[in-house]
Amino acid sequence: MKTSEKVLQLLLKKQAFLSGQELADELNVSRTAVWKAIQSLQEEGYQIESKPRIGYRYIEGLKLSEASIRRFLNPELDLNFEIYDTIDSTNNRCSQKAMDPEKKTPLVVISDSQKAGHGRYGRPFASPVGGGIYISILLDNDDPDFNPGLLTTATAIAVTRTIEKLVHARCEIKWVNDVLVDGKKIVGILTEGVADLETQLIKHVIVGTGINYLTDPSKFPEEIRQRAGSLRRYTLDSGVSRNTFIANYLNEFFSLYQNYKAASFMDEYRAHSNTIGKDVTINRSGQTSEGHVATIDNQGRLVLSSGETLASGEVTKIISTD
Ligand code: BTN
Repeated sequence: MKTSEKVLQLLLKKQAFLSGQELADELNVSRTAVWKAIQSLQEEGYQIESKPRIGYRYIEGLKLSEASIRRFLNPELDLNFEIYDTIDSTNNRCSQKAMDPEKKTPLVVISDSQKAGHGRYGRPFASPVGGGIYISILLDNDDPDFNPGLLTTATAIAVTRTIEKLVHARCEIKWVNDVLVDGKKIVGILTEGVADLETQLIKHVIVGTGINYLTDPSKFPEEIRQRAGSLRRYTLDSGVSRNTFIANYLNEFFSLYQNYKAASFMDEYRAHSNTIGKDVTINRSGQTSEGHVATIDNQGRLVLSSGETLASGEVTKIISTD
């Protein structure tokens, strides 16, 4: 570990001023080495307050950082991280890593922006710099009955719980994977499976989540401004940093993932649904149909009052309330 990383760890642990001498003694390095480490951390974007004759103090800032995330992470979780300022897509990075025999899983890939963020049906997912959370989790899978729909549903609950607990915004979920606040989409989830070519079994699972956390809505492309929203107003009020949010989301995600097939979160999902009891238009592989949503079952499937059950598709329009 570099001296700068060790200095950061000590400052994060202390959450108060530590003098240059204390840091130097603790790490067995010179005060000049500590000073250089502080300079390099500040250049990387960490906010470190420096007071003459008192020392240094870490201030939780905007920079995404593994060390800050780890402070709030459940210590029982053994996760590996990659954090980028920019990347094509965090899901793509996980697909690449899935092929790497040396990889360590679970791997969490996070980026401050994406150049080719994408969602379902290959649609682009706007991922502007400075404020969004673009995060993908790469998992090994040995379950032949892996259920991507239900895992997406569990992920929607993990994000919803984290938003409601930390940011105090009331969430609604539009089947299957959109989380809305004040009627606008603020979270998208894309779950992908990576199959083994020979066995055709899903060997890896990628759960990608995009959250418009502190994103300035004026940075969204014109064509999605009507539908896309941001948690910015709520996150500024709550003062919860992206790092803290990410750690709490990961804690929720992994606690649900352990046993997601038991679907114990489905009552919570139904309680947040904006789709149950409505007349909707549904798009499936380019085919549009209409129906009345009776419920969402414990497999995460849409159940229409006609008796039809849909495991996939997209609700494109919510027409009326009961
Ligand atoms: C959707 O709304 O259709 C799903 C959007 C998923 C976006 C996230 S952002 C992080 C990860 N990387 C991607 O390229 N996509 C997912």
